[in-house]
Amino acid sequence: MIVLAIESSCDETAVALVENRREILSSVVASQIDVHKEFGGVVPEVASRIHVENISYLIEDALKKANKTMDDVDAVAVTKGPGLIGCLHVGVQAAKTLAFAFNKPLIPVNHMAAHIYANELVVEMKYPLLALVVSGGHSQLVYMKDEHSFEILGTTQDDAIGEAYDKVARVLNLGYPGGPKIDNLAKQGKPVYALAKPKVQGKYDFSFSGLKSSVLQFTKRMERNGETWNDADLACSFQETALNEIFDKIDLVLKDYPDIQHFVCGGGVSANSRLREKVDELAQAHPNITFTVPPMSCCTDNAAMIAVAGTIAYEEGRRGDASLTADSSWELGE
Ligand code: KG4
Ligand code: ZN
Repeated sequence: MIVLAIESSCDETAVALVENRREILSSVVASQIDVHKEFGGVVPEVASRIHVENISYLIEDALKKANKTMDDVDAVAVTKGPGLIGCLHVGVQAAKTLAFAFNKPLIPVNHMAAHIYANELVVEMKYPLLALVVSGGHSQLVYMKDEHSFEILGTTQDDAIGEAYDKVARVLNLGYPGGPKIDNLAKQGKPVYALAKPKVQGKYDFSFSGLKSSVLQFTKRMERNGETWNDADLACSFQETALNEIFDKIDLVLKDYPDIQHFVCGGGVSANSRLREKVDELAQAHPNITFTVPPMSCCTDNAAMIAVAGTIAYEEGRRGDASLTADSSWELGE
């Protein structure tokens, strides 16, 4: 089965063709980072317009690179949500047009589910499974008893972790997107500064807004007192506090759910090198659980993961029709 998938939920326009769940025939991504970094973050209206400019070329390019035509495609999958509403609309309209013009089934895909299923591109996922999805828009711990069930155990009460990385990078004048910049800078630093430890209500929930403010207050206080600080140490202190917040919760879940067979990561922040180290440490402590962090190209937004999720949703019998619309806040499992 060959699925053509379209992703346009944020600032990447992407199209991919994937055969039988795992074989990537082509995967093209047009990143808008160079445009948005001039504004210090994604400007939704600008992002939607660039998706409109790019989408037809990318569809043609993905088909050409896969050496296929629409006749070879069995279904069209598209990100329905969550994401930026104007951006999502572009992908959904393009997918609907393709599906109806070529008489192919249309499959709506949840972007967060796709970040989890991206792991199928490298390993066969085993259930019950625990997924950590950490991106610019979300931070979630998801328990999956089987391939089609999602239980959100923990979520952020305010900012997503990627958002906190991007905001702290702005305080340190590192530019956008901040995640990779902080990741690199933190390697040269030590976690010497004590930053506010987040307070949360739910047992497995996260919070990153207080931590971000704590970094800002720290720099303001130092400036007021005429003192200097080391940016690498501050980046490292922020990163350790943020990641400890997440890994403390993972420890709790692994204790409370002893049936978990597989731990997977997804979302842009799972490209983080310190996070990858911490997953390795966790793997050593839990030899009975399989730990997977997909390669960086699968972690950040791409359409191959939408095709995998589309294939799984298709097998489950999910279909979209002419009334399909984008849903900017579509929750996992809804
Ligand atoms: O999943 P993604 O590509 O888009 C969303 O769905 O949000 O994630 C983008 C986020 C940005 O906040 C970016 O700063 C962060 O992922 N990111 C990282 C790293 N690479 C990307 N954060 C920390 N360390 C990294 N190496
Ligand atoms: Zn994403």
